Amino acid sequence: MKTLTNKRILLGVSGSIAAYKAPDIVRRLQDLGAEVRVILTNGGAKFITELSLQTTSKHKVHSNLWDKEAELAMGHIELARWADAFLVAPASANTIANLASGKACDLLTSIALAFEGKILIAPAMNQAMYHSNGVQNNLAILKKHSIEMITDSGEQACGDVGEGRLAQPETIAQKVSDAFTNTKLTGKNILITLGATIEPIDPVRYLSNHSSGKMGNALAQACIESGANVTLIHGNVSTELTQQSHKLPVDTAEQMYQKVMEVIKDQDIFISVAAVSDYRIKNVEKNKIKRENKHLTLDLVANKDILYEVSQLENRPLCIGFAAETENIVKNAQNKLKNKGCDVIIANDVSKPDFGMKNDDNEVYFISQNFSEKIEKNNKQKIARKIVKIFIRKFL
Ligand code: CTP
Repeated sequence: MKTLTNKRILLGVSGSIAAYKAPDIVRRLQDLGAEVRVILTNGGAKFITELSLQTTSKHKVHSNLWDKEAELAMGHIELARWADAFLVAPASANTIANLASGKACDLLTSIALAFEGKILIAPAMNQAMYHSNGVQNNLAILKKHSIEMITDSGEQACGDVGEGRLAQPETIAQKVSDAFTNTKLTGKNILITLGATIEPIDPVRYLSNHSSGKMGNALAQACIESGANVTLIHGNVSTELTQQSHKLPVDTAEQMYQKVMEVIKDQDIFISVAAVSDYRIKNVEKNKIKRENKHLTLDLVANKDILYEVSQLENRPLCIGFAAETENIVKNAQNKLKNKGCDVIIANDVSKPDFGMKNDDNEVYFISQNFSEKIEKNNKQKIARKIVKIFIRKFL
């Protein structure tokens, strides 16, 4: 798989002569598998046409903050939500100044304020401008805000030689790709349980639940993107599991528990997304139960709580659990955090028809001791990346 497969990159093109290289940047990002959408500032449009960028990106170019139709089709907030990374290349001295001062004076800067993911900028200007106190102060502010710089030096369009030249499109695309893979999760072993366990009643019937495995799989992808080695212990799932993971299928909660305990000592992080059946049938019938009686009582006994058991281990990994709730979401999740002894609980409301179990979307709360943050409704892939991001910030 290419390193930017399934990644959505928003490219902001601002006013520099180097804007003529923007279509090449689009191409190099696409070569790595990315889908690219472009924002073109007024200054950028002096050096490159919308048509060139539309043709290479295969999407309408966004340029006007006040365009009613464009806002209806894909508004600036939606664009910010759509993107996985925001690259400003070339970044002119003026755009750098606006970004550093938190202005929302055009579409590019407004989106930068609304965007919650990784921002990278590739400055492009004359070397004297680049070294000026104003630009250097602004770049220092942006660095403090964790915005990554992609810089280069060499011969410039104006004939000068020095820093401030736009980096090569291949280098820029590679840096964007690196931003996804060089993280604090790189090289970490992560075990994820996901899907629904199945508890047999007789040879043809079983007890289970609606879990699809989509949230667990999205987390697996987000961890893999961040450079982790991921093992999946999965029950019944209705989604295709990510290929780059090591997959261990199980049926029952007891099998899931045994498998988890077999591999847990090698793990740095345990993420328990599985909808594990709390109970199993006490005596599984060898033969199919016949419809002989008006009433049938199934005798259930409790299964082990896998997350609890792992959280009690002496040399345990960092543990993240999920809480499927239908009421008092945050309160119940805080209780689960305490009772299970894990480090994080991701709470989700499973009573809503438009997100949660079985759905492609979710809305969750990231809850740890003395900390709670709501992650607004979005597709599970985005939610997973946000969870990973907060987890890295808080625990690694
Ligand atoms: N879990 C587990 N083993 C179980 C039950 C749950 O590992 N036997 C994990 C789930 O994977 C999840 C967390 O515990 O990370 C909470 O699961 P949830 O179903 O929300 O809660 P329960 O602990 O089952 O409690 P209740 O059903 O009473 O809400």
